[in-house]
Amino acid sequence: MEQGDLFLEAMDRKAKIFARSVRATVEANRELCSWVLNPLARWAEEAYGSDIFDAAAHGYAEYCVGVAKSKQIYERSGRYTPESMPEIVSGVYEDESYMVPYMWAAILIYPFWPSMIGHIAMFRDDFLRRLPRNATVSELAAGHGVLSLLAAEERPDIQVESSDISPPAVAVANRLLAASGHSGRVQFVVKDALNGDGGNDGRFQGLISAMLAEHLTDPKPLFKTISRQLSRDGMVFFSTALESPQRDHVYEYNQESQPLQMAENAGLRVSRMVSDAASVPPGSRFLPRSTGMILRSR
Ligand SMILES: C[S@@+](CC[C@H](N)C(=O)[O-])C[C@H]1O[C@@H](n2cnc3c(N)ncnc32)[C@H](O)[C@@H]1O
Repeated sequence: MEQGDLFLEAMDRKAKIFARSVRATVEANRELCSWVLNPLARWAEEAYGSDIFDAAAHGYAEYCVGVAKSKQIYERSGRYTPESMPEIVSGVYEDESYMVPYMWAAILIYPFWPSMIGHIAMFRDDFLRRLPRNATVSELAAGHGVLSLLAAEERPDIQVESSDISPPAVAVANRLLAASGHSGRVQFVVKDALNGDGGNDGRFQGLISAMLAEHLTDPKPLFKTISRQLSRDGMVFFSTALESPQRDHVYEYNQESQPLQMAENAGLRVSRMVSDAASVPPGSRFLPRSTGMILRSR
C-alpha cells in the first residue's frame, strides 16, 4: 500500500457514495495521482495527525454535494447566481469552518476528478519540469498551498513565493509547509492577487494561477498582473473552470476561447492547452469543464 492510499481508505469510511468512482480514477492514473497523494499524505499526517484523512474525505464529500446542488440551480436559471462578493469573502474566504474542509476538497479534486487529471500532467510535465534552472516562482491564490509544495518537491532548485486572500487557507498551507521540509524555499502570505504587485515587474520565471480567474468579478486584471510579473523567458500555469457553478464562482466562462482571448489581450500566448469535461445527465444545457494552459510572454 502507498501512503496516499490513506485518502482512499478514508473515502470508504466517510464518503462511501464517491469512493468507487474516486478509486477508479486513481487506479486508471496511478502514477500521476500518487505523485500528488503520497507527499500530500506524508505532510498531512505530520501536520495534523492521522484523523486528517477522515476530515479530508468528509470535506470532499460535502464539497461534491454542494457542487451538485449548484449545477441543478444553474441548469434551471441558465446563469451563475453567486452570492455578493462581500458575502463570499465573509462566508467563504474568511470563515475557517467553511474554508478548511473546502481546501481539502480543492486539492483532492486533482487526483479524484477525471477532468482534473490532465491538469496534474500539464502542471508537472509541461510546467514544473520545463522551468528555467533556479527559477523564482509565484503562485497566486495558492489556497491549501499544495501546488507550491509539489513544485518545491519536484524542483529542489527553485524558490516559491505564494499568496492567497484567505487567512484560513494560508494557515493550512503554512501547516503543511512546516511538515514538508521546504520552509527555506516556499513562503505563503495573505494577499489579494490583484493588489500590491508593484516592484515585481518581470520578476518571476514561473507563475501559477490555478482555479482563480472564475472567482473574480473581472479576470482581465489578473492576466495583466501575470503578464507584467512574468520574465521574458518565463512560463505560466493557468487554469480555470467553465460552466461550473459553485458558491464562490463569480465569473462565468462558457467557451475556452474566452480565457484564451483575455490572456492574448494581456500580451501572453498559449503554448499548450487542455480542457476536460465532467460527465453530465443527457439533455443538460451546460457542460462543466476545466481548462489548463501553459502561457508565455509574446
Ligand atoms: C478553488 S481555490 C483554488 C486553490 C488552488 N489554487 C487550487 O488550484 O486548488 C480558489 C482560491 O482562490 C482564492 N481567492 C479568491 N479570490 C482571490 C483574490 N482576489 N486574491 C487571491 N486569492 C483569491 C480563494 O481564497 C481560494 O483559496
